[in-house]
Amino acid sequence: MINKTFLLVLLFTGAYRMASAQENTLQQSMKRGESLYSTNCSSCHMPTGEGLGGAFPPLALSNWLKNQKKIIGVVLKGLEGEVTINDEVYNAVMPALNHLTDREISDVLNFVSNSWGNKQPLITPEHVKAERK
Ligand code: HEC
Repeated sequence: MINKTFLLVLLFTGAYRMASAQENTLQQSMKRGESLYSTNCSSCHMPTGEGLGGAFPPLALSNWLKNQKKIIGVVLKGLEGEVTINDEVYNAVMPALNHLTDREISDVLNFVSNSWGNKQPLITPEHVKAERK
């Protein structure tokens, strides 16, 4: 019985430590991402991610954020042509922002993906590296 309790405690503290390490990493990444966002993205997507009329699509509650590979690709390669975001059609041009490093792109996307009501899992620099081909 004592052994079982001991094992359970070990298991939970281990899981808790792992969860809070993830949480820290995400928060630190978002913090770095915030200023990258205001320098590189907010002029089009607006400071609180709501976009601008029919010209620039929103990032707040955007249904594209679920597809992390796709949005990494948007930042690396840019995006143009007709796209539908939250049932609205856009047909404009976003330039590639591939002068940003893998870490900067993961930071800015973590900020976007976890602000203004968004909640998505951590994106790492390795994820970005894998898409930069
Ligand atoms: C010059 C304006 C401009 C800048 C700067 C810009 N974007 Fe965009 N972005 C756009 C436009 C326009 C589209 C839609 C393109 C289309 O219509 O095909 C878009 C689409 C997107 C999308 C996919 C659609 C959506 O709304 O979810 C994401 C994600 C995105 N941008 C993220 C970013 C991030 C992150 C940055 C900064 C690192 C950034 N953008 C900088 C104009 C911009």
